[in-house]
Amino acid sequence: MSSCVPLPLSPFQRLGRLITGVEPGLPPIDVSVGEPRHPVPSFVGPVLSAALADFVRYPPIKGTPAFRAAVAGWAERRFGLPAGTIDRDDGVLPLNGSREGLFHATLTAVRLAGATKGSRPAILLPNPFYAVYAAAAEAAGAEPVLVAASRKDGFLPRFERLPADLLARTVAAFHASPANPQGAVADLERLQGLVSLARQYGFLLFSDECYSEIWRGRAPDGVLSAALSGGGFQGVVAFNSLSKRSNLAGARCGFAIGDPAFLKAWAGLRNVTAPQVPMPIQAVAVAALADEAHVLENRRLYDLKYAVAQEILGDRFPDLVPPGGFFLWLDVGRWGGGEDVTARLWKEKGVKVVPGGYLSATDADGINPGGDFIRIAMVESLETSREALSRLSEVLS
Ligand SMILES: Cc1ncc(COP(=O)(O)O)c(C=O)c1O
Repeated sequence: MSSCVPLPLSPFQRLGRLITGVEPGLPPIDVSVGEPRHPVPSFVGPVLSAALADFVRYPPIKGTPAFRAAVAGWAERRFGLPAGTIDRDDGVLPLNGSREGLFHATLTAVRLAGATKGSRPAILLPNPFYAVYAAAAEAAGAEPVLVAASRKDGFLPRFERLPADLLARTVAAFHASPANPQGAVADLERLQGLVSLARQYGFLLFSDECYSEIWRGRAPDGVLSAALSGGGFQGVVAFNSLSKRSNLAGARCGFAIGDPAFLKAWAGLRNVTAPQVPMPIQAVAVAALADEAHVLENRRLYDLKYAVAQEILGDRFPDLVPPGGFFLWLDVGRWGGGEDVTARLWKEKGVKVVPGGYLSATDADGINPGGDFIRIAMVESLETSREALSRLSEVLS
């Protein structure tokens, strides 16, 4: 190979470049990564050890029947779907964390669309966005189309405003609710509108719902209810995982639920390409999805931390506490913008956050909707979160 195109840097690699070589002003606190640090639920150890012998086996790509039934049963209970609505054979797929699923689903979607979407198939994504959406579109040879999810639109992308010719060549749209980083939540009507739009233009709707269980006020609706009220799951896939709901990011266990025809075709491709979920981890998922007590406790812990955030920063940020997810998404434009505040916060106070502009991109109008923001993950203990926010408050005084 004589030359190569550099791969895009992840937000965390860019953050590393921003602060490498700069000594933290105080003992470091890292609130940059969305990795839950609440305890692993107590039943995980015993379930894992009881299933240990299954580590000798290659797991089936479609998962065990018990795994599929547990996922389907949980989703039906959680989203108020009639029992048995989700196809236990083809309506659920295990994923090695939802991230690889979002990636491989895109490759499959573009491959299945073939020439039907013309020579420049498009993939829609919100801006800011979870990095894998854009990477997947690029890898699939599709055009990633960034759609601003700004405050004036409730931090949700308005795909319905795109020109008809673009929607007609769209293969799939990524939509996240609760959204990372803003924590915005789409209501049922909005989700129904998205499902109708996807059906009108014949594209797949990939609904990233991995923060669905971290909320304040009211449990977020899911795309499956929206799809069912419109007749069925065709063209719709919900992605979720144990990472945020059950503090099991390291177990790498996610799942896709929805359109059986798409999931069946995708399972065929996954059979020769994708990582499987180890059987003992599937057993953990069966137990985790049957238990809501640890999920309630998680929400209680997040609520305490948001109350502290409100106490420390509420006077400067009127809409500080988002309805979903576990981030603070703070507009620090009047203090110099996201990159500047991130660099100062590290240098003066040893607190590591992510500049919002690293989670978003400059769009066709030359605007980076995340540029003025920083993202703070509320994943640490109450005491550590309080300390991090107090240090931030001093920098923003
Ligand atoms: C919006 C969003 N989607 C998907 C994921 C992937 O999570 P996992 O692969 O652990 O299921 C993350 C992880 O941070 C995320 O923030």
